[in-house]
Parts: sequence; structure tokens; C-alpha cells
Amino acid sequence: MTRPSTEPETDAETDAETDAGADAGSRLDLSGVRLLVCVSGSVAALAVPHILLWLTGRLGLGRIRVLLTPMALRLVTKDSFRRVVGCEVMCDWDDLPLEDRSHVSVARWAQVALVLPATADLVGKLAHGIADDLVSSTLMAVSCPTVVVPSTSETTWNKPVMRRNIAQLRADGLEVVEPRTGHSLATDADEKGSMGDYLPPLIAALAEAASSENRRKL
Ligand SMILES: Cc1cc2nc3c(=O)[nH]c(=O)nc-3n(C[C@H](O)[C@H](O)[C@H](O)COP(=O)(O)O)c2cc1C
Repeated sequence: MTRPSTEPETDAETDAETDAGADAGSRLDLSGVRLLVCVSGSVAALAVPHILLWLTGRLGLGRIRVLLTPMALRLVTKDSFRRVVGCEVMCDWDDLPLEDRSHVSVARWAQVALVLPATADLVGKLAHGIADDLVSSTLMAVSCPTVVVPSTSETTWNKPVMRRNIAQLRADGLEVVEPRTGHSLATDADEKGSMGDYLPPLIAALAEAASSENRRKL
């Protein structure tokens, strides 16, 4: 359980990298790209509304849907996303809009999926094809590029089962972002486990989605 970090980071070098990545993104028209954000129950979930506000401001993203696991909903509220960020948010099957008759419709809607943060639990489910809630079922049904941003304790990150699950996700073609070192609330020490730099793979996936949409319209 590492302290949640938002963009921009405090470290000056990271700031420069983040700004460069965001500037590259802001030169592209990403307003029409459909981004599905899946939030699981890590303490880093607290930072996600702020991150999405920042992403919509800097990258001009206009079409974001958020899915929360039940554990994520214990850490952040739906209103943090609906009222503050202004995006649609779903946690339970009953939250699916009538026109989206199932999670498969939501999965097909997504052009890019971002799992932010990904708990050890959700990483394990994705690695083993377990689909027992709205988030894991929808992620099982997407066919779009998927960026997974783990956030765990360093001990968890180094567990053999976690190493196997991460290797499986990478072998399956998901983009797994390496965690960075941050201050752990649980151990009160600096350790590897905070959400890493997801902006480069996210922007690359969004840009690819935007340009294939443009090619489709030609
Ligand atoms: C305050 C709090 C913080 C937590 N932080 C993390 C975390 O950073 N990483 C993690 O893998 N699990 C963390 N957990 C444990 C997960 O919430 C737990 O494994 C849960 O079953 C995950 O469910 P989900 O993957 O469906 O969201 C935390 C739990 C609590 C109560």
C-alpha cells in the first residue's frame, strides 16, 4: 500500500518527462477517443479522480467511462468521477445504462482501456481469466489496447505469484507499467510499488486509436 501519487509528480525530472509526454498528447486531437478507466481497490484509487481531471484538461479527452470494483468504491465515491470529472461511472451490473445491454457493449465501446490502479487481486484475475464482477468481466471482453498500472506493496510486487501473473499479462499483450518507488503508508518507508509512468503507453494507445478512427472516416 503505497501513497497515492498524481500527475504531475513532485520530482523535477519526472515533471519534465510528464509535461513532454502530455504536450505530445495535447498536440493530437484525442477528444473523440473512447477511454475506459477501470479502478480497483488500491489506496492509489484516491488519486484517480484528480488524474482524470488532469488528463481531460491536458489531453482534451472527452469520452471517458469509469468502472469501479466494489473495493474501489469503498475508497472513492461515484460522485468524485460523475460530478467532479464529469464522466459516466459504473460499479455494479445495475449501473449499466439500458442502451448498453451488457458489459460486452461497454467493452466494445472502449478504444483504449486503462486499469488504474491495478491491485494484486485484479492482476491475478486478469492473468487467470477470472471474471466475477463488472470490472473483471468487462476487461475479459475488451479487444482494445489495455494499459495496466499496478499499485502494491514492494513485497507483494516481488512475490513469485505476482511475477508470474505480470509475465502472463505481458505475454497476453497487455501493457504493464513498471511501478516506481514511493513512500509506503503501510511501512512508512520508500519502496517500489507506486503507480509508474503510464502516460507514454497511454498516449501511444490513444494516438493510435485517434489515427485509426481518422483512417476509418476517410
Ligand atoms: C486502505 C486499503 C488499501 C489497499 N491498498 C492496496 C494496494 O495498494 N494494492 C493492492 O494490491 N491491494 C490493496 N488493498 C487490498 C485490496 O483492496 C483487496 O485485495 C481487494 O480484495 C481488492 O479488490 P479489487 O481488486 O476487486 O478492487 C488495500 C486495502 C485497503 C483496505
